[in-house]
Amino acid sequence: MLTHSSPAGPTTHLSVASGMYHPFAYLFGLLQLLGCARPPSLPFVRRSTAKAIGGMSNGKIVCVTGGSGYIASWLVKLLLQRGYTVRASVRDPDDPKKTEHLRALDGAAERLHLFKANLLEENSFDAGIEGCDGVFHTASPFYHAVTDPQAELLDPAVKGTLNVLASCKKGSIKRVVVTSSMAAVAYNGRPRTPDVVVDDTWFSSPEVCEQDKQWYVLSKTLAEDAAWKFAKENAIDIVTINPAMVIGPLLQPTLNTSAAAILNLINGSTTYPNLSFGWVNVKDVAMAHILAFEVPSASGRYCLVERVAHYSELVRIIRKLYPSLPVPEKCADDKPFVPIYQVSKEKYKSLGLDYTPIETSIKETIESLKEKNFVNF
Ligand SMILES: NC(=O)c1ccc[n+]([C@@H]2O[C@H](COP(=O)([O-])OP(=O)(O)OC[C@H]3O[C@@H](n4cnc5c(N)ncnc54)[C@H](OP(=O)(O)O)[C@@H]3O)[C@@H](O)[C@H]2O)c1
Repeated sequence: MLTHSSPAGPTTHLSVASGMYHPFAYLFGLLQLLGCARPPSLPFVRRSTAKAIGGMSNGKIVCVTGGSGYIASWLVKLLLQRGYTVRASVRDPDDPKKTEHLRALDGAAERLHLFKANLLEENSFDAGIEGCDGVFHTASPFYHAVTDPQAELLDPAVKGTLNVLASCKKGSIKRVVVTSSMAAVAYNGRPRTPDVVVDDTWFSSPEVCEQDKQWYVLSKTLAEDAAWKFAKENAIDIVTINPAMVIGPLLQPTLNTSAAAILNLINGSTTYPNLSFGWVNVKDVAMAHILAFEVPSASGRYCLVERVAHYSELVRIIRKLYPSLPVPEKCADDKPFVPIYQVSKEKYKSLGLDYTPIETSIKETIESLKEKNFVNF
């Protein structure tokens, strides 16, 4: 059973098996086909992103797993704006913190259907995926404070991916876009220095991740590997999106791990970590997912990094943007700064997209954290 989202709160149950969906979804798709209706324009995306918005959903139905997450919420928003009918999985459809921001999106009342599913339950996604044209598999736990890495991170990431792909196989899905990560790309012991260009031919090494007790990184590495193997064995067309640290505005009311990385620089901390990460805007990440589904020639892995920057550089940017905000003055250790490196932009740009500059992404994150009262200034 799917839950038909409504901003007003009450829900209507629609049967997946009987293929009954909101009639407006079909009407909208039909009008689009006839050239009479266009999804609303997207005023917030970058110019070349906006150009890429020419594509039409043609009334297609897609599934987004983990719909209430940080990245997925933007994905759902942009898919609805593009005219898609979206089925989004949530673990608890009765938790308003996970659903209200989705139900409030433009088009949600007519074309968003929430359904309950858990990565660890076999067949959990069958009903939500059956009859869809495409699936975006974003659900996977992303946090670092774990006590049991196997149960908390590895099982949901790997078994969850296989469960979702098994449902896709049963549902004859045309293409699955899997949200992987730069975590599955760059952690293999190869040196990463300013002259090195990391690209989609790199794969993280499970041994290196395990040695360094990088459990989240391991979960993404194993999950992507499992996805490619399953796809090959079962002839499923998958594309992976491999973003680095994702920042930019939050749609959901709760704090996610990557936005917390910015919050931790403006909430009174006295030191910043001695780490260099790639950074990318959440709207660019969401749009890349959509184009990876829509562009027939899209294939393989898409590394998404606007810029690799050390935390000291982030602090410098924040200080320039908000001179009165107290930011950490010192690095957490006295070792040499972890070097930056480059990440190839070619494949991302082949989707017709351009990156939001890191300065804009940081500003959008801070404004959003302020608006949602995670920080006061
Ligand atoms: N943010 C980043 O910097 C970043 C970078 C690279 C890749 N990624 C990947 O992007 C995806 C989304 O990340 P995010 O940053 O948007 O994280 P997030 O806001 O924490 O979202 C994670 C989502 O996964 C769902 N989930 C976790 N365990 C689940 C389970 N057992 N069953 C069903 N759903 C489960 C959560 O559902 P509930 O809402 O029910 O908790 C939530 O919707 C993940 O695959 C992550 O690895 C993130």
